[in-house]
Amino acid sequence: MARLVVNVDHVATVRQARGIDVPDPVLAAGLAELAGADGIICHLREDRRHINDRDLRLLRETVKTSLNMEMAAVDEMVEIAASVKPDMVTLVPEKREELTTEGGLDVVARPDHYGKVVERLHQAGIKVSFFIDPNPDQVEAAHGCRGDIIEIHTGHNSEAKSEDEAKRRFERVVRAARAASSMDLGISAGHGLNYINIKRFESLPLVEEYSIGHSIVAMAVLVGFDQAVRKMIELVKSF
Ligand code: PXP
Repeated sequence: MARLVVNVDHVATVRQARGIDVPDPVLAAGLAELAGADGIICHLREDRRHINDRDLRLLRETVKTSLNMEMAAVDEMVEIAASVKPDMVTLVPEKREELTTEGGLDVVARPDHYGKVVERLHQAGIKVSFFIDPNPDQVEAAHGCRGDIIEIHTGHNSEAKSEDEAKRRFERVVRAARAASSMDLGISAGHGLNYINIKRFESLPLVEEYSIGHSIVAMAVLVGFDQAVRKMIELVKSF
């Protein structure tokens, strides 16, 4: 049975649209946990465009399941993580001009750098996940850097224009998951997953955890946070 980790960034996006203090992503995280989520994830961006330092600190104080901090592999974020101590960090590439994380981290290009970041986070007692494209070379590099988990970037799957293309893209995810499994890495998947395209993953029990944000928050605006999380849990737990 797979786990669902709820990303609360976009609750903060709505708050930032008005520059006031509601809706509160910390409250949303509590509701997600009460609805049965297995964990909470938030992305502290360098520009603090949605989640801010106060949110992260309060989430650390209040999240009872597991807190995953998404972040760029830069000194500022590594120091914040080492001090706040989320249960886990997910390393992602970050560009200021992007609307959302656009691609996986190129671990192959900078193994020494990422290896050092992992070492520092491990010293602080934090597990490390690499958000990567479904590419066996990236899986191997993440393993070589002593990452604990890989999160397979599923954004390309959700953008497929035809069923054939969706199948081909899903095959890449399957191959990456098999490679990670052979290296004893934990396997997560995330980005662009919604109540419809998640169903394809039923055939891939190697994925242990799903990290989902936008589609849950979009559903929550219409039916409420509790129901939106429960609906996604129903799907993920049926795998
Ligand atoms: N995983 C990672 C690494 C991400 O950057 C994001 C987006 O913040 C997600 C999962 C969640 O993606 P979405 O909001 O499309 O569900």
